[in-house]
Amino acid sequence: MKITFYGHASLGIEIGGKHILVDPYISANAKAAHIDIATLKADYILVTHAHGDHILDVEAIAKRTNAVIVSNAEIAGYYGAKGFQSHPMNHGGSWNFDFGKLKYVNAIHSSSFPDGSYGGNPGGFVIEGEHKNVYISGDTALTMDMKLIPMRTKLDLAILPIGDNFTMDVEDAILASDFLDCDKILGYHYDTFGYIEIDHEESIRKFFDKGKDLMLLEIGDFIEL
Ligand code: NI
Ligand code: MN
Repeated sequence: MKITFYGHASLGIEIGGKHILVDPYISANAKAAHIDIATLKADYILVTHAHGDHILDVEAIAKRTNAVIVSNAEIAGYYGAKGFQSHPMNHGGSWNFDFGKLKYVNAIHSSSFPDGSYGGNPGGFVIEGEHKNVYISGDTALTMDMKLIPMRTKLDLAILPIGDNFTMDVEDAILASDFLDCDKILGYHYDTFGYIEIDHEESIRKFFDKGKDLMLLEIGDFIEL
């Protein structure tokens, strides 16, 4: 499994020969100006919730790639009504895709579209691949529901927001990693806007002091699991 960070909460995941994009918000992110969305491959686009900083490039990429948009029923329905391929899910449900098993799980946040349309309730995703399992929390507060995830899935990586203000901060993300029984964390949802700037060194040290590994990738860089 190869995971590429495209800035903010945008990810590319290659798994089993399939290309998955998560929450593409790239074309308006000045920090991601070197990423051209016209070059990104996508068989699937996973959408955690409907906020503009998670859906900005969904339509442009789906139009070009014919990717299947996977999200909660309301978001999938929104794109389905516009003629895009979509797969509706809801909290607690899983589906076996050709890249692995995908579960839509709880997040504590909100989820309206920029145009005011109802975006259902926000979520995160657990991907069980052929060899590795990863949790993408989406925008969320720390929540006890995270304790349910390791009861079903042994995680190899947790991708968690650490920018504070709209989501968990570093301290809450450390507690989240305890709840998730996963000490390998990829941080996201930080530095994009003034509200969510973080001190990288201090954040990494705080995780390190608890025996955990926080990875912060440069935009365009990737890790392999
Ligand atoms: Ni949000
Ligand atoms: Mn967000």
